[in-house]
Amino acid sequence: MTMVFAGALSHAPGITGRAERADPRLKDAFRGHLGALRRALEESRPDALVVIAAEHFANFFMNNMPAFAMGMAPYYEGPIEDEGWLAIRRTRIPGAPRLSRVLIEGLLGEIDLAYSEEWKFDHGIMVPLHFLTPDFQLPVIPVNINCQGPPLTPLARAWTFGEALRRALDALPERVAVVATGGLSHWPCTPESGKINVAFDREFLERWSRNDRAALLSYTDAQTYREAGQGGFEIRTFISLAAASGGSGHVWFYEPIPIYAVGCTVAVMEVQSRPQGSLHEARAAN
Ligand SMILES: [Fe+2]
Repeated sequence: MTMVFAGALSHAPGITGRAERADPRLKDAFRGHLGALRRALEESRPDALVVIAAEHFANFFMNNMPAFAMGMAPYYEGPIEDEGWLAIRRTRIPGAPRLSRVLIEGLLGEIDLAYSEEWKFDHGIMVPLHFLTPDFQLPVIPVNINCQGPPLTPLARAWTFGEALRRALDALPERVAVVATGGLSHWPCTPESGKINVAFDREFLERWSRNDRAALLSYTDAQTYREAGQGGFEIRTFISLAAASGGSGHVWFYEPIPIYAVGCTVAVMEVQSRPQGSLHEARAAN
């Protein structure tokens, strides 16, 4: 089969940990759209869920930092953080080791992909799963892109990874959903935490919705750091999803919620059926 669903959402720990401190209207609207994203994911009837995420030094450290990593474990555990702080109970999440291995073997032809049979999920994956698979039954395959420890994974490589992931998914008999989670602008763990650059976020989401490869890849890390903080480096996850899906994006919800320290985003992307070659080139030729 192939990729049957493409979604994107925020993952800041305040979304669950400080849930009740937000404006109730914004909180309810955000959660309403997260519920709609869950229903859309369920309707795609996936056999597994690939989560393209950004680590926060929970598993990968500066002694050996991969540009890309994929999980190959029979199960994962999370959250690694304090359960009370994140307001998510620690649990075991099923993996899909055979599927992971097939994907890794397919990707290694194009991507120098690290893989791991051990992976503790931090809020970057647990917050999305809390809303999308609240019973934690759907097998998950985690992906990490280095958005954290410079030198970071180049944006163009994040795009290439997305295209390669799609080709690997197209070769499978299984139905696989993919979600990206990250950013957009935010300054976590700094004195500026809570600051949100709405203009940056909206411009990025506009480029992402157009699936405009050149515009998405034109950000420099210096510009992103200046305008979107170190948390803005997580745009790589959205960029990989755009490359994998090849279609147009639809932003269902975007609102800055300062107590959550991020512009909260819920979005989907059309999955274009282009099994061969560069998805972007195929799209541009149409
Ligand atoms: Fe993050």
